[in-house]
Amino acid sequence: MAFSYIQTSAIKIVIYVVPHLGDHMFTILTGAQFGDEGKGKVIDLLAENYDIVVRFQGGDNAGHTVVVGGKTYKLHLVPSGALFEKRLLVGPGVVLNPRVLWSEIEALEAEGLKLDLGIDAKTSIIMPYHIELDGLREKARTEKIGTTNRGIGFAYVDKIAREEVQMEDLTDPALLEAKLNEIGPAKEKAIADMGGDPTIVKYGPFIDEYLEIGKKLKDKVVDVSREINAALDEDKTVLAEGAQGAFLDVIHGTQKFVTSSFTTAGSACANLGVGPVMVDNVVGVIKAYITRVGEGPMPTELKDETGVRMREMGGEYGTTTGRPRRCGWFDAVLALKSCYLNGYTELALTKLDVLTGLNPLKMCVGYELEGEELGYPPESTAKLARCQPIYEDMPGWTEDITGIDSYKDLPANAKSYVEKLEELLGVDITGVSVGPGREQTLFRD
Ligand code: GDP
Ligand code: IMO
Ligand code: MG
Repeated sequence: MAFSYIQTSAIKIVIYVVPHLGDHMFTILTGAQFGDEGKGKVIDLLAENYDIVVRFQGGDNAGHTVVVGGKTYKLHLVPSGALFEKRLLVGPGVVLNPRVLWSEIEALEAEGLKLDLGIDAKTSIIMPYHIELDGLREKARTEKIGTTNRGIGFAYVDKIAREEVQMEDLTDPALLEAKLNEIGPAKEKAIADMGGDPTIVKYGPFIDEYLEIGKKLKDKVVDVSREINAALDEDKTVLAEGAQGAFLDVIHGTQKFVTSSFTTAGSACANLGVGPVMVDNVVGVIKAYITRVGEGPMPTELKDETGVRMREMGGEYGTTTGRPRRCGWFDAVLALKSCYLNGYTELALTKLDVLTGLNPLKMCVGYELEGEELGYPPESTAKLARCQPIYEDMPGWTEDITGIDSYKDLPANAKSYVEKLEELLGVDITGVSVGPGREQTLFRD
């Protein structure tokens, strides 16, 4: 921090000059539900106006889809600003599978894209033993979580236990060997105790492969916090790309049915090493209905043909695992909590087109729990699982809205649906998405 001071005869006044409180623009974008809200599409749209797009948490459990010119890109680790060829960063709060990253880089470069990628030296590496442990643990659970089996939880366990392999370790065989010698025996024991193959820890052929990838990525290893803060000092703009969604957050979500990272907006500052005063806006991405993949409570889940119809119309199959997503009516009670958790300054509403043809539309405006009406989710996951939704009916529309290019041209009932949602949440909906394509977006004043 720079500072100067004014000396008078009596007192010395120290004036701290925080260098980057100028015209900075630091935007955080997160998912407001259970993930898969359409974050990839919205990040791609916004990326044009930013210099840097940075991932701050999660790993390749994320699957962010970007559709441009009829072509579909599924991104797991490379930030969704890739198509605008922006500076792309992977922050130290991410857990990174080098194999997945490398194959993603190759696939995007094969499409002719130029990637300007930086990876923080402290980024935790997902090792094959994390994936093995994830699978063994899930198999042993009587009540499953339904993880993506990407080793996410065990990689974060090692980060917190201070037993992680970091990006930097892949750039030097001696560093990796020392790390594995130190942490390997405990991993071998854990795997053997769970009935797995402990030789995977130190003797797998992956070691050469990881070091090979480390060599190729060496010149991309950076200090992300420093780069972002310096960029903001120079009045460059930064977009932080969240993965997963509010209710998969390891603290505020529906434990134990959550991922192992902090998915809400505040986490971007901590994970990237950027002060909270730098945040200008927080964008929430929210689907016009709700989906969940994996286990855990979801009060408005539809197990009938309406749910099946939403799944088929919305293409609701996991981007990462291909699993069918559970679908349900929009849950304004959960959404309200999400607005609190994230402090959204605006919302992007996606997949309005998927509701076309459903009549009436139902919106969950409260819960009933043991004879009581609630307007906010109960404090515990067990109670949430017992909540019954209270619905308000809204009239639907039948017109195809996927080709509409102005908000005002939406059918009156579609506009009423958007405006009702906005009224319930008290946050402006500044964009409405009516299809997966970049151009299928309606901006509102
Ligand atoms: P993310 O994880 O939040 O980035 O979301 P995913 O990419 O996993 O899932 C969202 C899916 O919906 C993708 O297949 C997108 O192409 C698609 N999508 C995004 N916005 C819209 C929309 O407005 N309408 C329709 N029909 N599909 C959309
Ligand atoms: P994006 O970024 C939807 C879910 C898994 C599982 C739980 C824990 O595409 O929105 P994990 O492998 O993280 O330990 O699994 O979290 N999950 C997601 N669901 N979208 C995601 O990411 C998800 N990432 C993890 O299905 O229920
Ligand atoms: Mg997804």
